[in-house]
Amino acid sequence: MLHTPGTSAIGLVSLLLSALPASAFTKPAGPGPYACGDLTQSLGDEIVVTNPFCADYRQSVNTYFNTEQSKFKPSCIVYPTSAEDVSVAIKAIRASDSRFAIKAGGHNPNDFFSSVDKGVLIDLSSLNEKKYDPVTELATFGPGGTFGDIYEYLLPYNRTVVGARLAGVGTGLALSGGLSYLSSQYGMACDSFRELEVVTPTGEIVTASEHLNPDLFFALRGGGGNAYGVVTKYTVQSRPAGTFYAGVVVYLFQQNQKVLDAIGNFIQYNEDPKAAIIGTYMKLPTPDLELNLDEAITLFLVYDGPDAGDAFKNFTDIPHLMNTLGHLDYNGVVNMPFPGSAELSRGRNTFRVTVQPGTDEGIDTLATLYENWRDWSEENKGKYLITSLDIQPIPKSLTDASNAYLGGNAMQMPDGPWYWVNYLLTASELLWDDAYQEVQESFKELVNAVPAGEGLPLFINDAKLDQNPLVTYGGYEKLKEVKAKYDADGFFSSYTGGWEFP
Ligand SMILES: Cc1cc2nc3c(=O)[nH]c(=O)nc-3n(C[C@H](O)[C@H](O)[C@H](O)COP(=O)(O)OP(=O)(O)OC[C@H]3O[C@@H](n4cnc5c(N)ncnc54)[C@H](O)[C@@H]3O)c2cc1C
Ligand SMILES: *[C@@H]1O[C@H](CO)[C@@H](O)[C@H](O)[C@H]1NC(C)=O
Ligand SMILES: *[C@@H]1O[C@H](CO)[C@@H](O)[C@H](O)[C@H]1NC(C)=O
Repeated sequence: MLHTPGTSAIGLVSLLLSALPASAFTKPAGPGPYACGDLTQSLGDEIVVTNPFCADYRQSVNTYFNTEQSKFKPSCIVYPTSAEDVSVAIKAIRASDSRFAIKAGGHNPNDFFSSVDKGVLIDLSSLNEKKYDPVTELATFGPGGTFGDIYEYLLPYNRTVVGARLAGVGTGLALSGGLSYLSSQYGMACDSFRELEVVTPTGEIVTASEHLNPDLFFALRGGGGNAYGVVTKYTVQSRPAGTFYAGVVVYLFQQNQKVLDAIGNFIQYNEDPKAAIIGTYMKLPTPDLELNLDEAITLFLVYDGPDAGDAFKNFTDIPHLMNTLGHLDYNGVVNMPFPGSAELSRGRNTFRVTVQPGTDEGIDTLATLYENWRDWSEENKGKYLITSLDIQPIPKSLTDASNAYLGGNAMQMPDGPWYWVNYLLTASELLWDDAYQEVQESFKELVNAVPAGEGLPLFINDAKLDQNPLVTYGGYEKLKEVKAKYDADGFFSSYTGGWEFP
């Protein structure tokens, strides 16, 4: 998912909204203060913050990608500095029957995935220790901070890890798979996990790896966060990071047929695993004026190496407004189109996802998806600040790399090529309850209008809760078993948000 910056009005309005009392929004809540008292006693008031005017508290609640999550007010926020702190917190929350949430980067837009109204928020930001071992080439990092921090730490070693395509996204991305510009070479982010330190839903601290608790390790390799425990440390295989040939190419919508054809060709025929793209179609709320100035197409092109050969020729041959392709290091790559892109896209954001095969028929469907979305965007002018369609190719080299490690991840990815399409809706700040629900409902109909490709997984990093994506995973039955084993009394299922296991 990538976006161009929204408007500064978003920030202002969300600031105003966040000043409203939590009681202005009726959402399921549970006890909180009781757990908070216990937690302050056992962990101290450096680690447990109850004052909503405190800078840490405000930082935690105001950094969600979906600003709707910033309207919820936790009774206290815990900033653990060790797995032991997390264990103490989980046990106290459990004892008090309190609702809670686990927050890493706060980019999941679904309600209560990393936010909580009353109850306890566990903010992992202080668990941000990083290490690199040049002998084993393993990188170790805590779940706090962003992928950008981790990339910056590793770059002096000329190494990186498979992670977010935008620097500002958090590590929760990897527990839900994690699609990177490097994935066509090395698989999803979770395919590089080698060992995880996990606090289970009973508060026990365990290791998950190929040899220790391998069932838990399987589930955490792409089966989602906050379902099987809290990951407090990641040990992952690092990857080389040298000079990239990368940039964005921007087109007017007049070129959309040519660009769609080029994306379709890339999905079906590109066989160079060092070449990665995201195709982004975006609609802005500005009036059309018959000049199509309310629309833009941005192609993100990334080649791992200084010379891309002809990999992107099909894109650069199409007349364009702008082309920033050039030599970048990995920090440059994940800050395209410019630093702060992930943060600037905050707003009333919703994601939905679909998946289609890379067959001729599946590629034809791409044109239908685009046309449906464009029609919807025209009909719903005024109801959104931004809406976009992001096309993400999944080549065979990616699914091969993924399936080569321990028999594959939670998705059990079917052979590529196929592609995910991520739909973004940034709803207008001016829509009140009913109108907001209506636009959400019609956006859902837009995405549901074309059935997803059969036997292909709906990517949980891009999905809405009601899409029930886990059931589309090849590993679903196994995930259900792991869930039943590690969250046996349903504490996580009942007291925090997350995917359902129907
Ligand atoms: C601007 C933007 C760009 C994106 N780019 C990409 C991309 O390039 N590739 C991609 O695959 N996805 C991408 N995504 C989707 C992204 O992966 C998901 O939104 C993901 O949930 C973000 O993780 P987070 O840590 O920032 O969010 P959070 O909301 O903090 O966490 C996500 C979920 O995981 C849980 N969780 C997080 N950490 C832990 C932990 N240590 N233990 C247990 N549970 C945990 C949380 O409770 C929550 O339910 C992008 C999203 C945005 C908004
Ligand atoms: C990283 O790469 C640069 C450029 O090739 C080189 O000068 C430097 O010595 C490398 N650093 C390490 C730690 O290998
Ligand atoms: C470029 O497009 C042509 C068809 O015009 C196709 O044959 C070729 O495979 C495409 N190349 C890539 C890398 O997408």
